[in-house]
Amino acid sequence: MNTFLSIFVTVISLGTIFGCLTLLIWCTKDKMGMEEGAPTGHTFDGISELNNPLPKWWSYMFVFMIVFSLIYLVLYPGLGNFKGILGWESSNQDVRSLEESRAASAAAREEGRLVQYEREMVKADEVFGAKFRELVYEADGETYRAIADIAQDKEATKVGQRLYLQNCAQCHGSDARGARGFPNLTDGDWLWGGSPEAIKHTIVAGRKSAGMAAWGPMLGEEGVQEVASYVLSLSGRKVDPVEAQKGQARFGICAGCHGVDGKGNQALGAPNLTDNIWLYGGSRAAVEDSIRNGRAGVMPAWNDILGEDKVHLLASYVYSLSNEQ
Ligand code: HEC
Ligand code: HEC
Repeated sequence: MNTFLSIFVTVISLGTIFGCLTLLIWCTKDKMGMEEGAPTGHTFDGISELNNPLPKWWSYMFVFMIVFSLIYLVLYPGLGNFKGILGWESSNQDVRSLEESRAASAAAREEGRLVQYEREMVKADEVFGAKFRELVYEADGETYRAIADIAQDKEATKVGQRLYLQNCAQCHGSDARGARGFPNLTDGDWLWGGSPEAIKHTIVAGRKSAGMAAWGPMLGEEGVQEVASYVLSLSGRKVDPVEAQKGQARFGICAGCHGVDGKGNQALGAPNLTDNIWLYGGSRAAVEDSIRNGRAGVMPAWNDILGEDKVHLLASYVYSLSNEQ
């Protein structure tokens, strides 16, 4: 916060509190010069106003609130750049990456500052870590249970679903059916492979698609339309056959990634273009847009954030979605 904002916030906060105090004092003074309980002469719809003071309990509550907020503002951050005498922090400020976050947390620990998020994570691991380990390890406590086995375990998939809802639903949807640009995880159609190992690898390390370049500049507008017609025809869609044929002649530049038959390549994350399942939409306009402007989806890596035990459990949950027994 710059100095002006800091002063602005401080003045507004303190001004409001002292304003309340002034109002309270002003209201508790009898300015009518009348006896308590005497009618003031104001009547509204037959109800007349008496000269009664504010109830005592109400005024005390106000006083308590004012004292509380002043003590709070001294102890905790709130007044502009003043950090409060306890030095409390809710999170690491100005952090842009996980590495920076770790470094900032370590520095805070060394200086003996309190970082609440960090402490809560450590505590959560003490409480729930053992439960996760019990679900994902064999009885020996060392080797992981097979993902396909955990996927059959009702209790484990329930916990996996919780983890999913907390970490993955914002992109893949709470029902895991995905959205535009975010793949459906329930349909057995995989960009990067649906084996237990492939799914786990996707979650552990993330996936950054090799990148589908923008082909518009190279193909020209006509070329884009022809190739789009051919691509749509692969899913059995009705298109102009002459255009599709011209598109097929150009498909050689696509085949390196999407395969000669257009069935895709999971090693590159290149989607199957023949199954009428579309990551970015199957309308003619959307397919043309994919070809003209390129696409580059990124699935974040989770190992460093969640740890391998939870990732193993998540992989089992995702596996269970398209492999119901
Ligand atoms: C910020 C958004 C985002 C979040 C959060 C996210 N993902 Fe993804 N995920 C993606 C995108 C985008 C892709 C597709 C990448 C691509 O285009 O190749 C993807 C791909 C995947 C795939 C591969 C799908 C396939 O067809 O091969 C799996 C599995 C997956 N995510 C699981 C998860 C799980 C489990 C979580 C939670 C731990 C998660 N994702 C959280 C964006 C996200
Ligand atoms: C370098 C490899 C590569 C080449 C070459 C390539 N693509 Fe792609 N293509 C991809 C990848 C990877 C994706 C998925 C991008 C993502 O996940 O964000 C993709 C996505 C697409 C999509 C979107 C599919 C969907 O489900 O929404 C279409 C359509 C497409 N490509 C068509 C083409 C056509 C036509 C060509 C040739 C002109 C071509 N691609 C050339 C790698 C490639």
